[in-house]
Amino acid sequence: MAGEEAIKLAARIIAKAKRIIAFTGAGISVESGIAPFRGKGGLWEKYNPEEYAHINTFRENPEKSWIMLTEMLELIKKAKPNPAHLALAKLEKIGKLRCIITQNIDNLHQKAGNTSVIDFHGNTSSLVCLECSRKYKLDDFSLEKIPPRCECMGLLKPDVVFFGEPIPVEALYRSQEEASKCDLMLVIGTSAVVQPAASLLGIAKRAGATVIEINPEPTPITGIVSDFIIEGKAGEVLPRIVEEVEKIRIR
Ligand code: APR
Repeated sequence: MAGEEAIKLAARIIAKAKRIIAFTGAGISVESGIAPFRGKGGLWEKYNPEEYAHINTFRENPEKSWIMLTEMLELIKKAKPNPAHLALAKLEKIGKLRCIITQNIDNLHQKAGNTSVIDFHGNTSSLVCLECSRKYKLDDFSLEKIPPRCECMGLLKPDVVFFGEPIPVEALYRSQEEASKCDLMLVIGTSAVVQPAASLLGIAKRAGATVIEINPEPTPITGIVSDFIIEGKAGEVLPRIVEEVEKIRIR
């Protein structure tokens, strides 16, 4: 659907919906300077994530993973929420967004001000010990010597889901519950191909929710699971949608 028409339709659907959730992926952080997984450019052209961010590589050769991780953490530390993150924070503030389920590990939704965020793949703001499970705040820890170690000498790993690791049970259950109860799911900046995250879209759809995608390009679920797509950058489309929602609410 063409830009402005789709934006106004999405705003009307949002204004009417009672239980809205957002499902976000790497695309929402592209305008904050973090390249996506399946696009060109950025860290993942240099380091194959399925090798460097695989739990087996991490256990067998932590120095190798940590070379990529220090670069990634530096990039994330510098990144700031962009207009798309800020628009979702505003949607929560005006009582129109129940929660965000994000596949991203960059903490940018929280930095933007959203208080109800499910980090489906974990979050880089803490480190966890593989031996004793103790957690440390990343900001309190020096990464001068890699791999960093816990007081118990166990290996420390960012508290994120590596390839080959399961989704934390609480994040999985909460997300499935939210998806099954929402009446509108906004799917923003994700190729929707990685499981089990992508299965949440089907859960919402089967429960009768409207599913709207915001992405510059169609995805494998466009028009199949999603009702329609607004083709454009999240940082441009989302602020416009929220602006329209506010106009409807004022009327
Ligand atoms: N605004 C919105 N969407 C965008 C933008 C933008 N400015 N730029 C790119 N996109 C879209 C791309 O068109 C693509 O569909 O974002 C999507 C990014 O897709 P992926 O790189 O596959 O990222 P994601 O869907 O989050 O990947 C899921 O895969 O590697 C794993 O664990 C990793 O969480 C990640 C998961």
